[in-house]
This record gives sequence, structure tokens and C-alpha cells, in this order.
Amino acid sequence: MSDVVYPNHLGIIMDGNGRWAKERGLNRSLGHKAGADNLIKLLDYIYNNTSIKVVSLYAFSTENFKREKCEVDYLMKLFVTLFNTKLESIKKNNVKVVFSGRRDNLPKSVLEAMDKTTDDTKNNIKGILNICLNYGGDYEIVDMTKKIVRQVLDGSLSIEDITKEVVSKNLYQDLPPLDFVIRTSGEKRISNFMIYQSSYAEYDFPDTYFPDFDSKCLEESLDNYRKRDRRFGNAK
Ligand code: FPP
Repeated sequence: MSDVVYPNHLGIIMDGNGRWAKERGLNRSLGHKAGADNLIKLLDYIYNNTSIKVVSLYAFSTENFKREKCEVDYLMKLFVTLFNTKLESIKKNNVKVVFSGRRDNLPKSVLEAMDKTTDDTKNNIKGILNICLNYGGDYEIVDMTKKIVRQVLDGSLSIEDITKEVVSKNLYQDLPPLDFVIRTSGEKRISNFMIYQSSYAEYDFPDTYFPDFDSKCLEESLDNYRKRDRRFGNAK
């Protein structure tokens, strides 16, 4: 594992659950259930077999609230089950779970499960799992701006002292930049996912729907990442 190059921070936009279900004549919600089952296996693989330290997941965007009520309700219940029981292996793997997004509009049951997960894992040090839930990259920048302006107005921060580090500390989570983002299902968009943190990220858009995106598919994407020439603005 040690001489193989891995991204330090991997983002996954878990897309295609609905289409996976539709192709099987199933309700969309069963696609999310299959996606969640796959996610648990994938995370176990990542934290046990790679040197990836931080994983950010796009679980639910602020815009996803526009979906049919029954689908949103199903997803909220799925999140509670996942956080309360299925993430047990993550906790045992010494991974710290953090959340990014707005708390408003989320049901109390989800907020309680999120808070318990955060608390249960706060001292874990092997890796970080950042779950973007009720998340929008544009809202994250708005919320960061408000936090910084408040500090300027109360005198605890001067305008001259606003640096990239200060911006990063006032985002939902202070994480290293994203190195690699995978969006499954063939859609080639980033859909408001961590737009500040992905300024120099590499992307991969495999056709596979998320419920079928297993460790073999992940390794194929990682091979694509390894072929990239990351120059960060430098000349070739
Ligand atoms: C996008 O597929 C997927 C979602 C909106 C939900 C993703 C959630 C999970 C995989 C559950 C587990 C997640 C966590 C982190 C707790 P889509 O419904 O847009 O698929 P489609 O484009 O085929 O319709």
C-alpha cells in the first residue's frame, strides 16, 4: 500500500441510485438502500486498504428537498439507520465522522443521529469521513462569509487578517483541499459539491451507477487519478 499513490482527500458524488432501481423495475428508494449498502462496503475497503485519509460524500443536497416527499422521508430514515447502526464499522476503524451542511429543515431524528455520531467519533484519528447533508457549496460560501463578517463587526478579526486559512477555518469543516472527485453514473457535473475545496481537484466520471460502484471500480478510477499530471498552475 505504501508506495502506491492515493489522493489524500477523496470526494464521491454518489449518483445513479434512482436509475439503478428503475432499470430493475424497483422503487427509487430501493436504489438508495442499495447505494447505502454499497457505501458501507466501499468505506470499509477505503479505510482498510488504501492510504486515503479524508473522504467527503455528497449524501443530500439542499436542492434534494425538492424531490417527492416519500423519497425525502425514506432518505431521512435511511440516514438515521445508517448513522445509528451501519456506521459501526467506521467507528471501529477509528474514523472521525463530521457533517457539512445546514441544520435547518432536517428532522430532529436525523439531527440527533448526526450529533451522536459526531460525539462518538470525535477522538478518532485514523481518518475523517465528511458527510455533506443538506449541503450546497454556494450556501457554504454564504455561511462562511456571514461568520467572517460577524467577527469583523465584533472586532475579533481585522479585514487585513482575512487569509485563505481564515476562510478555510470558517467553512463547515476545516479540511484539506480535495485531490480527487468521483461522480458515478456518467453525469459530468459537479452540482454544487464543495466548490471552494475542489479548486485544483481532478475528476473522474465513471458510467457505473453508485449501487454497483464497488472496490474494483474505485481502483479503476484511482488508476485514472494516478495518470493525471497535477501542476497546480505550474508550467509543464
Ligand atoms: C443520487 O442519486 C443520490 C442521492 C440523492 C442519495 C445518496 C445517498 C445514499 C447513497 C445513502 C447513503 C448516504 C450516506 C452518506 C448516509 P439519484 O437519486 O439522483 O439517482 P438518479 O440520478 O439515477 O435519479
